[in-house]
Amino acid sequence: MSGIVVAIDGPSGSGKSTISRRVAAAEGLGYLDTGAMYRAATWWCIRQGVELTDTEAVAELVREMPLEIGTDPAGPVFAVGGEDVGVVIRSTEISSLVSAVATNLQVRPELQRRQREVIAAESGRAPGSGHRCHSDGRGIVAEGRDLTTVVAPDADVRILLLASEEARLARRAQELHGSVDQETLAATRDQVVRRDADDSTVSNFTTAADGVVTVDTSALSLEEAVATVHRIVTTARRQAR
Ligand code: DC
Repeated sequence: MSGIVVAIDGPSGSGKSTISRRVAAAEGLGYLDTGAMYRAATWWCIRQGVELTDTEAVAELVREMPLEIGTDPAGPVFAVGGEDVGVVIRSTEISSLVSAVATNLQVRPELQRRQREVIAAESGRAPGSGHRCHSDGRGIVAEGRDLTTVVAPDADVRILLLASEEARLARRAQELHGSVDQETLAATRDQVVRRDADDSTVSNFTTAADGVVTVDTSALSLEEAVATVHRIVTTARRQAR
């Protein structure tokens, strides 16, 4: 029997990463943060000295990127050429440049192909993809802007996480600066509002496609949001048995 595939979409600050990771851990599933792949690609291109505006050169480099992925939700791994990039890809520099790579239409098919390979391996639908498989075929929670629509439109569970701009800004400010006030909200705006505006030119992550369940987390605590998504996943697993 195939494992379960859970695909989660949504804008910055909707809670995608934290919620996906927690649900994957609770269910013994693998976890794939596809945003980290775009971040790793950005780091790799900068490291190789290519201009991010040179879309052809960037795409070619990404196709050759020796990216290693580990899908354990307790300790996801992203390494490029043997170098662990898990921390550096969260830097402000990468955060402010990543959209240039994520909106490169020649880059997306390559990363989407790698994402589908990981998903197929974790859910036991295809042999290993070379990544560090965590779930032994039990399944995966994969999250990112186009997961429910382009990467895994046939996923068993597809969820669009939404939250008001106000709630998303406040969460990111808390996460990045440890407090929510005028200054930290202003400093966070670029990472949430500008980046989503750029990213929305290549993927739609604000309206649910047919068959996608919407969960609005604006008024939910993190615990409540995790519990809501967890319930949707456990219900689907029960029905599949
Ligand atoms: O979720 P994040 O901030 O780590 O994502 C990093 C960037 O990659 C952001 O610009 C959105 C983009 N992205 C994307 O275009 N498609 C995905 N599946 C995941 C992320």
